[in-house]
Amino acid sequence: MSARSAVVITGANGEIGHALIERLTEHGQDAVIALDLREPDPSVAKRCAQVVVGDVTDAASFERVSDQYDVRAVFHLAAMLSTSSEKSPERAQSVNVDGTLRALGFAMARSARRGAKVSFVFPSSIAAYGVPSLAEKQRAGAVREEQFNAPTTMYGVNKLYGEHLGRYYSRHYRQLAQEPNPPGVDFRSIRFPGIISAFTVPSGGTSDYLPEMLHAAAQGKDYACFVRDDTRIPFMAMPDAVDAILQLADADAAKLSSVVYNVSAFNPSPAEFSERVLRAFPQVKITYAPHEKRQGIVDTWPADLDDSLARRDWAWAPKYSLDRMIDEYLLPNVKQRYAGV
Ligand SMILES: NC(=O)c1ccc[n+]([C@@H]2O[C@H](COP(=O)([O-])OP(=O)(O)OC[C@H]3O[C@@H](n4cnc5c(N)ncnc54)[C@H](O)[C@@H]3O)[C@@H](O)[C@H]2O)c1
Repeated sequence: MSARSAVVITGANGEIGHALIERLTEHGQDAVIALDLREPDPSVAKRCAQVVVGDVTDAASFERVSDQYDVRAVFHLAAMLSTSSEKSPERAQSVNVDGTLRALGFAMARSARRGAKVSFVFPSSIAAYGVPSLAEKQRAGAVREEQFNAPTTMYGVNKLYGEHLGRYYSRHYRQLAQEPNPPGVDFRSIRFPGIISAFTVPSGGTSDYLPEMLHAAAQGKDYACFVRDDTRIPFMAMPDAVDAILQLADADAAKLSSVVYNVSAFNPSPAEFSERVLRAFPQVKITYAPHEKRQGIVDTWPADLDDSLARRDWAWAPKYSLDRMIDEYLLPNVKQRYAGV
C-alpha cells in the first residue's frame, strides 16, 4: 500500500496556521502534520495526523516527522514577526533564516524519498520593502516586486533572504556529493500585506493595529492605536490569505514567471478603519499614541502593492473588499466570539 499523502505546516499554531489547517482538513485529502514551538491549541491538534512540538532551527524537529507519510508539500509559516524581531535580531536571524534553511533541507530530503518534487510555500511580507521616505512612499503608490528591495528591519531582511534562499534551492542547488540528485523543492513565495482575522488576535507584528483595534472594540475596550491615523499600508482578510496560499501552491508551474508574488486587497488608514469600527461599537474610544519605532517601520512599507503578476500568472483575485470583509466576515464573527464579554 502506498504511503498517505501529507503536508507539513510549520508555525501551525499561529494565526495563518489555524486558518490554513481548518481549510485543508475541511476539503483536502492530505494528512496534516503540524510543527510548532508550542503545543497547538486543541482545535488545531485534533485536525492533525501528527503534531511535532519543536523548534524549526533544530534539524531533529524535522526528523520527528513520521516516515509513514509521503510529504508532498511544506507550508513554512514559522517565524518571528517584525516587532519581535527588532527586539531580538539575533534570535530572529536564527528562526527566520536558519529555520527556513532547515525546512528547505527537510523538503529536499523528502523529495529524494518520494522520487518527486516537494512543493514549498513561504509567506514573505511587505516588510521585504524599504521605501526611503514618506514623500517617496506617496509618490510610489502601488509597488512592484522588484522595487525598493532594501528592507530596514531584521524581519524584512530575513524575509527577503528567505525568498532568495528558496530560489537558490529550487533552481540552482545541486547536491554534488549525492548521486543521484534529489528531485528537489518547488519553492513559491507570497509577499503578504497585513492580514486581518476574525478568529485570532495577532501579536509581535507591526501591522497588528487594525486587527487589535477591531478585537478591542468588539470586547467593549478602548484602543490607543500605535501609529498615526493617516498611516497607509495594504491589508487583506484571512480567508483571502489562505486562498492565496492554496492557489499558488496548486498553480501550474509552467505559468509561473516568478518565485515571489505580491498579493493585496485594500489599504485603509486607521482613521478610515476606525470609522467603520465605531459605527459597529459606538461606545468605545479610539485614540492615537504613535510609537516612534513602530511608526518608523510602517512608514518604510509601501502604501499599496501592485499584484498584477499574481493576477496574470495564477488568476489571483481577492474575494473580500474592505466593506465585504467588515460586514460579512469580521463583524458577524467577532460579535459572536465576544458575545457576553
Ligand atoms: N499575519 C500577518 O499579517 C502576516 C503578514 C505577512 C507575512 N506573514 C508571515 O506568515 C507566517 C505566519 O504568520 P502568523 O501571522 O500566523 O504568525 P504567528 O506569530 O501568529 O505564528 C507563528 C507561529 O510560529 C511559531 N514559531 C515561532 N518560532 C518558532 C520556532 N523557532 N520553531 C517552531 N515554531 C515557531 C509560533 O509558536 C507561532 O505559532 C509568518 O512567516 C509571517 O512572517 C504574516
